[in-house]
Amino acid sequence: MTTAAKASTGVNHATTAPAYLDVWDLHAYYGESYIVQGISFKIHEGEILALLGRNGAGKTTTLRAIARLDEPQVSHGEIWLDHKPLHQMKSYEAATNGLGLVPEDRRIIAGLTVEENLKLAQIAPPIGWSLDRLYDLFPRLRERRNQEGITLSGGEQQMLAIARALARDIKVLLLDEPYEGLAPVIVDEIEKTLRLIKEQGMTTVIVEQNAVRALELADRAVILDTGGIVFDGLASEVLENEELRAEYLAI
Ligand SMILES: Nc1ncnc2c1ncn2[C@@H]1O[C@H](COP(=O)(O)OP(=O)(O)OP(=O)(O)O)[C@@H](O)[C@H]1O
Ligand SMILES: [Mg+2]
Repeated sequence: MTTAAKASTGVNHATTAPAYLDVWDLHAYYGESYIVQGISFKIHEGEILALLGRNGAGKTTTLRAIARLDEPQVSHGEIWLDHKPLHQMKSYEAATNGLGLVPEDRRIIAGLTVEENLKLAQIAPPIGWSLDRLYDLFPRLRERRNQEGITLSGGEQQMLAIARALARDIKVLLLDEPYEGLAPVIVDEIEKTLRLIKEQGMTTVIVEQNAVRALELADRAVILDTGGIVFDGLASEVLENEELRAEYLAI
């Protein structure tokens, strides 16, 4: 298939406006284990999408597949970001083309200060937000700019991980459980920041166990269940639909 033909398959498979991030018929495995079983969803520019589902539903696997990490193995499917075919790229190329993944374990680099962690993300173009802009977004990081990153509190480390993603010129921010292990007051603070990031035009996918918090933030929601999509619609519809919440989110 030519690139043009692929582009038309990837971008035009649904009826609405062209998507910014378009995942089409994605299948992913860990070895013999078939985890993501042909999912398709899309996000428009500037939206926040909550990707939800029970433990083991395949949320992290989906994010890793989109980020083109070595695992899982993607056997089939297309991933388009702003008309670029991520599915034809290695993870570093996907990163250069605007993919920003904040993994669950945050990956703060030991031995480096907050500022060094941020500067390291800006070592090669395309460079994203300036340090000043990042510190305006996260004043706690400005206060602690010379503190070693791994000595930050959990919430501050999450802020650093998000800031580091924005320090590169990204088009979509993928967050894997950003609220995990954090006190409600810190979740409030991060949620407020994610709203500010959206106001500045960022497109975001949030995976969260804390489904209600994620749904309150998101415009749309996709619910995964055993590797397939069981809901794709407005976040408010999920909040209002008790049956759906009970069946797939246990809330
Ligand atoms: N490296 C791996 N090797 C083999 N199987 C894996 C690997 N990572 C995850 N899995 C399996 O893939 C399935 C989906 O896992 P995944 O981490 O994507 O789920 P999740 O929806 O993110 O769950 P959680 O809410 O617990 O984070 C699970 O059954 C899990 O055991
Ligand atoms: Mg997970």
